[in-house]
Amino acid sequence: MDSSTRVRLIEPADAAAIAAHRVRDVEAFRPWEPAQPARFLTADGQAERIEKLLAGHRAGTVWPGVVLADDQVIGQVTVGGILPQPHLRRGTVGYWIASTAQNRGHAGRAVELVLRVMTDELGLHRAEASTHLENLPSQRVLRRNGFSPYGVAHSSILLDGDWRDSLLWERVLGG
Ligand SMILES: CC(C)(COP(=O)(O)OP(=O)(O)OC[C@H]1O[C@@H](n2cnc3c(N)ncnc32)[C@H](O)[C@@H]1OP(=O)(O)O)[C@@H](O)C(=O)NCCC(=O)NCCS
Repeated sequence: MDSSTRVRLIEPADAAAIAAHRVRDVEAFRPWEPAQPARFLTADGQAERIEKLLAGHRAGTVWPGVVLADDQVIGQVTVGGILPQPHLRRGTVGYWIASTAQNRGHAGRAVELVLRVMTDELGLHRAEASTHLENLPSQRVLRRNGFSPYGVAHSSILLDGDWRDSLLWERVLGG
């Protein structure tokens, strides 16, 4: 594990770094991430997206983070679909790490840090996630952080032109 991993809220100034990673990694991510319009791969497109994520943060439905290594943006970790109602208090964790920084423990550590945000800052009780059935690195990241698989959602996400099943993961945070 690389102890330099940090997470913080995304900022408009992160747009160029994120666009550069996503341009480089278009082919590598194709099996695992949904297809996006061409604008997604530009700094302007990412800036618009970041504004929407920050609006979601202000509304309390999203905690949009970036992952940093040695103070450079190397990926994103996002808590989406936040349901803050007292009887639900849950959110869904998603993440990606640039191909140039993978397999050094960054995603595992980023998820560990965002779980702390979910408990300490957001007061959530339950974390959820979903992975492609064949995305073993992503599944390792979740298992290492105490998530368990609890089911399969059939034909739930369009990836690389096909509707794919998703493995559903949960971790009860307590509180
Ligand atoms: C999945 C992803 C976030 C992992 O990021 P990362 O920083 O490389 O993850 P980590 O280094 O923390 O952990 C990777 C784990 O997968 C394991 N791994 C790597 N390649 C593997 C393979 N082919 N088969 C099985 N396990 C593998 C590593 O050994 C490590 O497990 P360990 O902690 O038990 O040693 C990154 O690969 C990624 O962004 N992929 C493309 C987008 C994506 O899949 N997003 C998630 C969608 S659910």
